[in-house]
Amino acid sequence: MKIDIRLNSEKDTEKLANIIANEVFPGMIIGLSGDLGSGKTTFTKYLAKSMGIKDNLNSPTFTILKTYEGKLNLYHMDVYRLEDIGYDYELDDFIYGEGVAVIEWYPYIKTMLPNQILSLTFSFVDEFTRDVSIEGSDQYEEIIQKISH
Ligand SMILES: Nc1ncnc2c1ncn2[C@@H]1O[C@H](COP(=O)(O)OP(=O)(O)O)[C@@H](O)[C@H]1O
Ligand SMILES: [Mg+2]
Repeated sequence: MKIDIRLNSEKDTEKLANIIANEVFPGMIIGLSGDLGSGKTTFTKYLAKSMGIKDNLNSPTFTILKTYEGKLNLYHMDVYRLEDIGYDYELDDFIYGEGVAVIEWYPYIKTMLPNQILSLTFSFVDEFTRDVSIEGSDQYEEIIQKISH
């Protein structure tokens, strides 16, 4: 199932993150793609907030992976620079972990990921507007249905 949504403001992005935060489960994988500035990190910030994570989430570009502790941990990755840093990264610990993995630029490591992911592709429309395409394997069907309502 695939749906396309328009986010007319950050408030809409926050609402989307909120719906998803209500459905998180251990081992969930959310793959984000879209150009720089399209809203991947902003979405993740609101997701963390809605998951009750107290720490401020920031862009992990220079650290690849950052763990935010909460009732469910959030593993935030940005693999944009993985090529520079090298491929020698232990992904299994968090991808099959106890928490929720959110991976910015996930297509870069698609071959290393399970097929069971929820993918969000952001695109820039204008200053405050973004489009997002949401697609997922069977196990994410229900979440996508909730988002579309
Ligand atoms: N509807 C929206 N959703 C998300 N971000 C938005 C929206 N409108 C404007 N923005 C702004 O766009 C920028 C997105 O940056 P960021 O989330 O860091 O993008 P990315 O991680 O994809 O590079 C932020 O400055 C944010 O405030
Ligand atoms: Mg980012």
